[in-house]
Amino acid sequence: MDPKEAISFKLPDILPPEKNFREGVRRAPNRGLNLNRSEIITALKNALRYIPDHLHDEIIPEFLEELINTGRIYGYRYRPDVELSGKPVDSYEGKTIEGKAFQVMIDNNLDFKVALYPYELVTYGESGQVFQNWMQYCLVKKYLEEMRDDQTLIIYSGHPLGLFPASKNAPRVISTNGMLVGEYDNLEGFVKAAALGVSNYGQMTAGGWMYIGPQGIVHGTYITLLNAGRLYLGIPDDKDLSGVVFVSSGLGGMSGAQPKAVEIAGGIGVIAEVDRSRIDTRYEQGWVSKVSAGPDEIVGWINEHRESGKPVSIAYHGNIVDLLEYFASNKIKIELLSDQTSCHDAYGGGYTPAGYTFKQGRDLLAEDPDKFRKEVDRSLLKHFKVITDLTEQGTYFWDYGNSFLKAVFDAGLKKVAIDPSDPSAGFIFPSYVEDIMGPMCFDYGYGPFRWVCLSGSPGDLKKTDAAAMSKIDPERRGMDRDNHQWIRDAEKNALVVGTQARILYADAGGRVNIALKFNKMVRNGEIGPVMIGRDHHDVSGTDSPYRETSNIKDGSNITADMAVQNFAGDAVRGMSMVVISNGGGVGIGKAINGGFGLVLDGSELKDKIIRSAMEWDVMNGVARRAWARNDNALETAKEWNRKNSDKGHLTIPFLADEKKLEAIVDKEI
Ligand SMILES: NC(=O)c1ccc[n+]([C@@H]2O[C@H](COP(=O)([O-])OP(=O)(O)OC[C@H]3O[C@@H](n4cnc5c(N)ncnc54)[C@H](O)[C@@H]3O)[C@@H](O)[C@H]2O)c1
Repeated sequence: MDPKEAISFKLPDILPPEKNFREGVRRAPNRGLNLNRSEIITALKNALRYIPDHLHDEIIPEFLEELINTGRIYGYRYRPDVELSGKPVDSYEGKTIEGKAFQVMIDNNLDFKVALYPYELVTYGESGQVFQNWMQYCLVKKYLEEMRDDQTLIIYSGHPLGLFPASKNAPRVISTNGMLVGEYDNLEGFVKAAALGVSNYGQMTAGGWMYIGPQGIVHGTYITLLNAGRLYLGIPDDKDLSGVVFVSSGLGGMSGAQPKAVEIAGGIGVIAEVDRSRIDTRYEQGWVSKVSAGPDEIVGWINEHRESGKPVSIAYHGNIVDLLEYFASNKIKIELLSDQTSCHDAYGGGYTPAGYTFKQGRDLLAEDPDKFRKEVDRSLLKHFKVITDLTEQGTYFWDYGNSFLKAVFDAGLKKVAIDPSDPSAGFIFPSYVEDIMGPMCFDYGYGPFRWVCLSGSPGDLKKTDAAAMSKIDPERRGMDRDNHQWIRDAEKNALVVGTQARILYADAGGRVNIALKFNKMVRNGEIGPVMIGRDHHDVSGTDSPYRETSNIKDGSNITADMAVQNFAGDAVRGMSMVVISNGGGVGIGKAINGGFGLVLDGSELKDKIIRSAMEWDVMNGVARRAWARNDNALETAKEWNRKNSDKGHLTIPFLADEKKLEAIVDKEI
């Protein structure tokens, strides 16, 4: 039999026309060609697997050129010649609502307005890709159009392995990104695998198709900043950050949320950014209200707003190190300080070293990656030095989960780790999860629940906002009050970029109640179908010792059982899509992270899945955090046991008397 007769799903028999690139759209840096001759041949053979063989002669030179010039084969020619955006779900082809809904999510992740480097399929976080190449995009789309409700599409790092027969209650998509065998589970191993076209860095929600633009992170940043003010500066629960200065860096995919969040929280934000195009994007969106390259002008604005008490967000066009050195030497008062350069990929272009403009940094990376690495190390040490100078002047600094302190450690400053021989024990400055997100949110089960109104109608979003608000009791806890206020003002704050989406931190009960309410509204025809999901940056989905699990202190922060169990548990309970990835937020080998998507179509089946899967998706992590002896998680787990004795039981630890224990150990050793 001709092998071609066995191929029903394939790319067209003619090549699409060559692509023109639109001016002004950000492009990914050259990732550098790190392959030898035989590996280059393998990379080409790998990409050609997607292309009908009679087209190979024509496409090979183009693929080779892409590999040489960008370090990857993206297959630019296969990018559809249209403006990609998440359109109303009914405008997609498909035999299942899930198949159509995933196409909405994928296209939204690749929208010029949403994605960081849309031509290179990068959604956010410098290198977080939806797929490895456009051939995968085209083929996945075909599969999603044809998929039935008794099939599951399996995706390996963006590559559709096939449609497999499955039960109706199984996920319709099961996806993995960047998973590597231990010995190769490091940046070097990944970079080679990615250049060969066999591995994808999915970040968190890019590879999980659940990114909803910077709004997703505005809420988390708003909560972090408010709670940082309460924790470090003693600001009372019912007051905001009026008159408080927060300085940080980055106006990219996630970091771009900082100015908006600090304004919503009532404070004064100064955010440094080397890339002018990103400042322009945030300014045009209205997420930044003032821009300057002059620190003295910025200090003038700070003083004005301290006096008036009115919020303001300022972008500094330049390197964060220069800005901080100016503040330190001029003794400018800064209350709160952090950093959101992409240090999880500092050597891959995520961190521009001091002394270089954005363009100079990019050129150096392409021409001499070794020198770039050295310059990054030099700059990180300088950066850390000025942070310590500022903290000595009274500033509170925390690591924003971008691996900044780990990057400083890797640059050679071992004493930045509590145990200089083992950075997994933590760093001398806390991460925001260690002090804030972990104990104040995750241990209770609060996390970044989100939804997308698949109809694309702003009216549906408005109705879901109101419905979600009706399910939150603002009097229960401080967190509930913040969340209630957030959702009340969400429409006014004009947070939507891309699809009609919303984020709202909620705990297990909150998420279940809101999802059930939405499903009922779909059933009654009040709204169109809704995709619910969450960021991976959550209670249970991610094992990441420098971030999500940095407040786990029983030694299990280096294990990844929770994230793997979460993925398996979400799958067996019937989430529409489950994904597990390597290194989300912090870089390959440093985390395992997972997420889900659930399409609410109004059916009774979805009610059942909400009740079992959504609760598991939160309580798995609460139970693990309780077993790690975290106080707030212990309370939450005990309460769950009391309320659910007929349904299940979480294992609660007995707590040792530490003083007694220490005395016994000290006597013996
Ligand atoms: N926002 C959050 O809540 C959150 C949570 C966890 C982790 N993070 C981490 O924050 C980092 C940023 O995420 P992102 O999606 O915004 O990435 P991004 O790459 O889109 O943005 C980072 C920005 O920093 C700028 N930059 C780099 N070096 C600089 C320098 N020296 N001075 C000034 N600007 C500089 C870059 O030009 C870029 O625009 C990532 O490592 C991410 O994992 C963010």
